[in-house]
This record gives sequence, structure tokens and C-alpha cells, in this order.
Amino acid sequence: MTDQPLSLAERAAEVLTTADGREKTALSRRHAAAWAAWRAGTAPEIPVGTASPPLHPARPDRPALLHPRDVPKRKPGSEAGRIALLHAVAHIELNAVDLHWDLIARFSHVPMPMGFFDDWVRAADEESKHFNLMCDCLESLGSHYGALPAHAGMWRAAEDTAGDLMGRLAVVPMVLEARGLDVTPGMIGVFRKAGITQAVEALEVIYAEEVSHVAYGSKWFNFLCGRDNLDPKEVFHALVRKYFHGHLKPPFNEEKRADAGLPPDFYWPLADQVKPLPGW
Ligand SMILES: [Fe+2]
Ligand SMILES: [Fe+2]
Repeated sequence: MTDQPLSLAERAAEVLTTADGREKTALSRRHAAAWAAWRAGTAPEIPVGTASPPLHPARPDRPALLHPRDVPKRKPGSEAGRIALLHAVAHIELNAVDLHWDLIARFSHVPMPMGFFDDWVRAADEESKHFNLMCDCLESLGSHYGALPAHAGMWRAAEDTAGDLMGRLAVVPMVLEARGLDVTPGMIGVFRKAGITQAVEALEVIYAEEVSHVAYGSKWFNFLCGRDNLDPKEVFHALVRKYFHGHLKPPFNEEKRADAGLPPDFYWPLADQVKPLPGW
């Protein structure tokens, strides 16, 4: 009897049950490299398989997770404010690592083309890189991930959509990660103004790579709609209203959203204000 290689879904569950951020992301990158090697034909096959992912991923003892209203707000123009901003992004990236592996582990039983798994493994690998870039920036400024409290609510989208792949794609890449495209240029400006080149360069990597994560979301959302003969825009609006708590906030990065396959008539009807008419 030969040892069976761990399936992709089992590898995903392994990442989800690893608590420490640097360890979780190192494991994530190793699994992503193994998957890419088999897909390139240079390593043995890894079956997609199935797994029972935990409802909540393992997390380190620190940061303390607080209700968003209790997380202290700091001015972005101060050193403490810049550290808080990097810390918040590191927290988002760690959540994103778990969100992508959870997507793989939780929905691996849904028959999908292999490209679906390639895309989410790659996205998880990139989030792992992003988390480490943010940790490196924090450490250069004399801080570290875990030094400040962080938002407790970020796993809610995963819990709410644990039984609905189209809902997961609508809310996570197409709403939450698309929001990252809207706000990242402003963050880059904060660090450019302060002359912190390491953070500018790291955030530019994140900004460039996040476009593809939103694009994977819209690609596979459209694929699933097409397979069931559904109107993607109508289904997107219904699922975001069902699972996302609140309105989308303009201004939107219409250019990068377009690069990612998100047209304005997907997100403007969900905004908390009416779309300005052309020429305003
Ligand atoms: Fe990221
Ligand atoms: Fe992402």
C-alpha cells in the first residue's frame, strides 16, 4: 500500500487549523507550491478530495478581537496611526488566507473545472505573501502583528455563506475584496507622504494582485450563473442583499473594478447613494 498524498481539501483544512500567522502562511505557501507543481506536471497528482473544515479558523492568542466599535481609531497622519493601518491590513490579509482555503475546503464537493481550484490556491498563496509583507513593515516600525486589537467580525461573511457557494463568491471576492480596490490607493498615499517606501512597495504589490482575486470571483460567479441559466446581475443583487449587512460605499474604483470584470450596474444599485449621472 502506498501513502496517499494529502488531498487539496485536507491541506486547506490543515491551514485553517494552524493558529500562528507566520506558520499558517508558511504552510499555505508550501501547499500552494505543491499544487502548482502537480498542475505543471513536475510533481505527483494531488486529488481535490473532501474535508471537514472548522466553522472558525484557528487564530493566535493575540491580537485581541474586539467589536469594530471598540477598536480605537487613530489619525493616519501620525506614526501610531500608520502602524494601526498596517496592523488592520495584516489582519485583513490573514483573514483572506483563511477565506480562500475555506472556500476550497468547504465547496470541494461541488463539481467545478480544475481552474477554479488553481485560482483560489493562487489567491490564498498571494494573501499569505501579503500578510508577511505587512508583518515585515510592522516589524520595521518597531511593532508586530498582535500588538494592537483587531476587528472580530471578519469571519461573519464566511459563516453566513458556509452553505452557499454563489453567496460566498458574491460577498467575499466581489464585495469585500472589491472594497480593497477602492481604498488601497488612499493608503498608498498615506505611506508615500510619510516617506515609508517599504510600505508603499508592499501595498502596491497587494493592490496589483487583489484585482485578480476580484476577477476570480466574478469569473466563477458568472460561470455558475451560466451553468444554471441565471441572470448574473439579478442573482448578485439578491445574494448581496441576503448575506451582506449594509450598503456598499462609494467612491468606487470603477477602473480597477472593470479590470476585475465588475460592471457598474452590479455595484451601484447596492450603494448607499444614487449613481451620479454622467457629466456631474
Ligand atoms: Fe491580499
Ligand atoms: Fe485578496
